Amino acid sequence: MRFLVTAGPTREHLDPVRFLSNRSTGRMGFAVAAAAAEAGHAVTLVAGPVALGTPPGAARVDVVSARDMLAVVQAHLPGADVLVMTAAVADWRPRHMAAAKLKKAAMNPVIELEPNPDILGTLAPAKDGRLFVGFAAETGDPLPEARRKLAAKGLDLIVANDVSRSDSGFAVETNRVTLIGADGTFTPLPLLTKIEVAREIVKWCEAQRARTTEAT
Ligand code: PMT
Repeated sequence: MRFLVTAGPTREHLDPVRFLSNRSTGRMGFAVAAAAAEAGHAVTLVAGPVALGTPPGAARVDVVSARDMLAVVQAHLPGADVLVMTAAVADWRPRHMAAAKLKKAAMNPVIELEPNPDILGTLAPAKDGRLFVGFAAETGDPLPEARRKLAAKGLDLIVANDVSRSDSGFAVETNRVTLIGADGTFTPLPLLTKIEVAREIVKWCEAQRARTTEAT
């Protein structure tokens, strides 16, 4: 299969040196890319600004903002069978970006925001038999919100990610997730390394593709 994987944060600039972003390091998304490549799949990895080496076998495209990420994912989607959106995409961006560094005295203490496009939502009409996998990063019980996002974004699988624990979610080596399939599968996983979580996601995609192929 051909995997298209996003990873890391996006940055939404106020000026050339200041931005809004989040704590994503890219580790989870890079692990998905590595797990897919080691299983013999073709992988394109679309990475926000992170400090990680490219997994062997993956082709990498670096992006900065949510709109950049949307454009690159949209361009690569026709050549993909599976889209895994691991990236922590900024939902909002500053309404204005200054071309030069803003002077402190000229800055407004209130930053006006406007919404970014939802990448999964935008690409849903182009899904066309592909598998779409999303993550739901939540503080507290992630399951209700994950189920809502699974349906709202028309996904095949959502990875419900409790990011309130110190050993799970952003910027750590391990993760605790539950895989919830639109087909009713429900797989709570124990605390695992991110590469182990990634291998489970890749296996789920392989099994799902095999079921679809058998049925046709
Ligand atoms: O990078 P690490 O430090 O390893 O951390 C990993 C992680 C915590 C970032 C990762 O495991 C994770 O949970 N990623 C999803 C984070 C997130 O933004 O979730 P969300 O619930 O806000 O978004 C739901 C889904 O919609 C996600 O698949 C997201 O990529 C996608 N989305 C979100 C916003 C947007 N504008 N467009 C999108 O497509």
